[in-house]
Amino acid sequence: MKHENQHYYSSLPDTRLKIQTVAESLRGHLYIFKTASGVFSFRKLDNGTKLLIEYMTIPEQEAILLDLGCGYGPIGIVLGYEATASKVFLVDVNKRAIWCTKENIKTNISNYKGRVRAMKSNYFEKFKANNLRFDGIYMNPPIRLGRREFLDICAQVPDFLTNRGFFQFVIRKKMGADIVLKNLKTLYDAQNVDIICKRGGYWVFKCFHES
Ligand SMILES: C[S@@+](CC[C@H](N)C(=O)[O-])C[C@H]1O[C@@H](n2cnc3c(N)ncnc32)[C@H](O)[C@@H]1O
Repeated sequence: MKHENQHYYSSLPDTRLKIQTVAESLRGHLYIFKTASGVFSFRKLDNGTKLLIEYMTIPEQEAILLDLGCGYGPIGIVLGYEATASKVFLVDVNKRAIWCTKENIKTNISNYKGRVRAMKSNYFEKFKANNLRFDGIYMNPPIRLGRREFLDICAQVPDFLTNRGFFQFVIRKKMGADIVLKNLKTLYDAQNVDIICKRGGYWVFKCFHES
């Protein structure tokens, strides 16, 4: 049986540290990511992540954005690189993932200071005290923890979105994407829930929040 701390979503992975580099062209720009054993998909960029990055909406105007469960940071780093007027937060519960993300922010984004920030947080925990609201929340969820936990997060998301803020995420169809869709329609107005892409067994969702 696997030791609990060997999962990529452990707070402090105890697998022997192996560092690797992943180079990936995303939305026409080449990114170099430092990755480490014990971090999600550390050998190559996950296909679901790639699809979400390809289809994600990136605001041109100033916005506050969140990569929720950032791993080594690909989603939030693309946001930070492209949304130059915006503030981007990247959070993960896994310390090793946050270490990689901090390195990757410095390597890939020249003007990151005071604008793009990675921190360890159990989902929204770090934002509860300061009442921060996001214009966009992006996620490739840790669905291995179970669909129930993801649906609990979905239910919390509207509390952390600005009016007309949106939530974009990717999940595998076989992980119960249709059940998630049904559930989202109870949390957002049905017309505010969109599936913007279905490809390679993944569905990319976008939900708008109106308060
Ligand atoms: C499927 S991975 C996606 C990682 C990264 N966004 C990517 O696309 O490569 C989900 C991430 O959620 C993180 N995670 C799991 N439980 C969490 C929690 N309670 N709070 C914050 N992040 C969590 C995991 O450590 C993991 O990095």
